[in-house]
Amino acid sequence: MNATVPVGVVTVSDRAFRGIYRDEGGPGIEAALARILATPWSAIRRMVPDEQPLIEAALVTLADVESCALIVTTGGTGPAPRDVTPDATEAVCDRMLPGFGELMRAVSLRAVPTAILSRQTAGTRGRSLIVNLPGKPSAIAECLDAVFPAIPYRIELIG
Ligand code: MTE
Repeated sequence: MNATVPVGVVTVSDRAFRGIYRDEGGPGIEAALARILATPWSAIRRMVPDEQPLIEAALVTLADVESCALIVTTGGTGPAPRDVTPDATEAVCDRMLPGFGELMRAVSLRAVPTAILSRQTAGTRGRSLIVNLPGKPSAIAECLDAVFPAIPYRIELIG
């Protein structure tokens, strides 16, 4: 049995994908997970532009082929026309867990009023839990810390 839990880390950003700026979201997720996940885990990284079919393909591969127990995305959750990460997440999930998005927005609202603009959500595909985070690096730790208590429990339930 493989004791290391594979975790998908997906950066969704046109500009990071094109190399216009350095990806800070992916490393931010890994730093936050290193602090909060007790189980041995290893990151499987993906970088995709804000294109729904490409986001869906990355999520499906990480869930179905790489067997990630947890897949965390960063970016593309806002109201702009190219922000489609929650839509891709919904398209590939069997079941949605709207409480994750609700809690993360509520916690983020204490820090920034614009948190209400994030459409971030979560759901399960088979045995994988997919969680969306906003693209701002400061949002990553805030959001993951908020939902973290439910993540090991959820992984156990679906694993
Ligand atoms: N949540 C936290 N915790 N901190 C933030 O700075 N920024 C908000 C929101 N959620 C923010 C946040 C803003 S300005 C936007 S537009 C939305 O997330 C969506 O961001 P995204 O499109 O990069 O995912």
